[in-house]
Amino acid sequence: MSVEYIERVYDGYSKVYDFLFGKVFQSGRELGPELLNLFPGAKLLEVGVGTGLSLPLLPRYAEITGIDLSQKMLDQAKKRAETLGLKKVQLLKMDANKLEFPDGQFDRVLAAYFISTVPDPVQAVREMRRVCKPGGYIVFLNHFQSEHPVMGTFDKIISPLCYRIGFRTDLNLRKLMRDTGLEIETIEPIGLLGHWKAVRCVNPA
Ligand SMILES: C[S@@+](CC[C@H](N)C(=O)[O-])C[C@H]1O[C@@H](n2cnc3c(N)ncnc32)[C@H](O)[C@@H]1O
Repeated sequence: MSVEYIERVYDGYSKVYDFLFGKVFQSGRELGPELLNLFPGAKLLEVGVGTGLSLPLLPRYAEITGIDLSQKMLDQAKKRAETLGLKKVQLLKMDANKLEFPDGQFDRVLAAYFISTVPDPVQAVREMRRVCKPGGYIVFLNHFQSEHPVMGTFDKIISPLCYRIGFRTDLNLRKLMRDTGLEIETIEPIGLLGHWKAVRCVNPA
């Protein structure tokens, strides 16, 4: 699947995204701020910010930048930021595979239900690492391919179908870590049946 295809899919979701994926992933989003361990003035980048469902959960003392490929998802996020009176939040249309930020710009990077939607997750994580300060936290909230042999095979079988509707189910967390030079610092199950994971990594120097 191409970046253009994913952009079109999420443009299409923009008006119904909160209804379809709001509540169901909310418990994971609520864990985000805890894992990010933000401090006053911390610079946070949320990649694939979507309609901004995490924005109300993040402390106002952080400097938040959200990027997304889909202008229509971002338009919803902008409306939410306005309603919440979040004047300092920056919301930008950008491809996560080619982040337009200098190296080490952010203290924290959040990828909430994002990394399995990108055609090239390894490149996206490399970019997240590049823009995150050494020692900064990179937090993923996501479904990864199950390590259970039967469930893992099922994830692999349904992945091409799921990708047509905007996400893959066969992303292997351990391989992603190996391919991008990241290590898991903490991992905990989130959401329905614990098939989704909250993963915190420390960006190596
Ligand atoms: C499943 S949504 C998650 C939205 C939000 N983080 C949440 O918690 O609901 C994935 C988002 O990632 C965006 N996305 C996918 N590929 C992208 C890319 N290459 N660059 C930037 N955003 C991308 C999509 O447009 C979509 O808004």
